[in-house]
Amino acid sequence: MGKALDGVRILDFTHVQSGPTCTQLLAWFGADVIKVERAGAGDITREQLRDIPDVDSLYFTMLNHNKRSVTIDTKNPEGKQVLEALIQSCDVLVENFAPGALDRMGFTWERIQELNPRMIVASVKGFGPGPYEDCKVYENVAQCAGGAASTTGFDDGPPVVSGAQIGDSGTGLHLALGIVTALFQRVSTGRGQKVLAAMQDGVLNLCRVKLRDQQRLERTGVMKEYPQYPNGTFGEAVPRAGNASGGGQPGWILKCKGWEADPNAYIYFITQAPVWAKICNVIGKEEWATDPDYATPAARLPRLKEIFGEIERWTMSKTKFEAMEILNKYDIPCGPILSMKEIAEEPSLRKTGTIVEVDHPQRGKYLTVGNPIKLSDSPTEVTRSPLLGEHTNEVMAELGYTSAQIDALRAAGAI
Ligand code: COA
Repeated sequence: MGKALDGVRILDFTHVQSGPTCTQLLAWFGADVIKVERAGAGDITREQLRDIPDVDSLYFTMLNHNKRSVTIDTKNPEGKQVLEALIQSCDVLVENFAPGALDRMGFTWERIQELNPRMIVASVKGFGPGPYEDCKVYENVAQCAGGAASTTGFDDGPPVVSGAQIGDSGTGLHLALGIVTALFQRVSTGRGQKVLAAMQDGVLNLCRVKLRDQQRLERTGVMKEYPQYPNGTFGEAVPRAGNASGGGQPGWILKCKGWEADPNAYIYFITQAPVWAKICNVIGKEEWATDPDYATPAARLPRLKEIFGEIERWTMSKTKFEAMEILNKYDIPCGPILSMKEIAEEPSLRKTGTIVEVDHPQRGKYLTVGNPIKLSDSPTEVTRSPLLGEHTNEVMAELGYTSAQIDALRAAGAI
């Protein structure tokens, strides 16, 4: 069976995490992704966070599956010509260099359009146009500037960044959607276009509920489902809400049996209104189902601390998995706090291809995440990341270069 993006050629000029997650996703959907790297060095992540000396790091391998690697010195005049040939033969150029780097290399939008008017040029940048547009940006800067950090953590502590890479991988996802949308529009217009995903915008898009809450706070001065209510105080901006659910159904993280020794013996518990009577039954507080102080969501809001305290007395008598099993029988929404070890060993995630084992010629077998988006007619098979320049000769030959020309370019340091 063919793949959804069969025939689409991507000139992958990305590095580190945000851009590579985008192009890896496109490769998983079947695009031919040609990663351009600097000879001798390559993507800086090849050597960052190494766990085996002189072997491509997991950081690199886990972001660059299903791609081909070619080395080109794009500042060398002959190297530039090779890049031009690639631009002419590809559909999309994806890059996440610091602002202005592509222009400085001589590949402005106008120049790329001259070479290939159908080319889509897709970029991740830290910020969109404005005061910070020239800044270099990494993950946590985006989490801070996009509103995630100021709204994460507890009220009595500093802002906190999330382990989820919403700035990098999140923006990569946004960019991938922009690229396939531009490819779709090109079918009717015949023209390429620029696609920009700014990391601040991507993080804010994922934090939209907090912008919602900012406006609610300004109107009413109080947010009753936040832990600051009823005894704390609200300031001018959305406060950090700890583990509050952030939605209309109050939730919190509760201790389970073994929490004293296991840092992940916890469960997320949601007091969803439609199953309130069942919750009361499970925890042995049947009277709360009819008591006017507890029977309605509005009545419960000022008592959430006490309610979760009572529920926790019950969850602490069960392991997180025992609690899950019981609560699921009653359709009570809940979720175990899973450690990375538990996730890595979970058989059902292996079965769906969400976690896959990949073999690498230098590092041997390792685990990685598979494609989180499953297409029924375009299944993803994860193949290992390329070694630096592994496909230079192959791609150069496809561009029409002879072996002698390839050798000469290599000798000149252009590839
Ligand atoms: N041949 C020759 N030169 C190359 C090359 C190649 N194949 N590939 C890259 N380069 C050059 C670039 O042209 C640039 O040169 P210049 O500074 O003279 O213009 C240089 O390498 C470094 O690029 P840069 O992007 O500035 O790398 P950096 O390591 O200094 O910065 C980031 C890294 C991530 C901070 C920066 O790229 C950035 O802000 N990117 C946009 C936001 C982003 O994606 N951030 C998240 C990363 S996960």
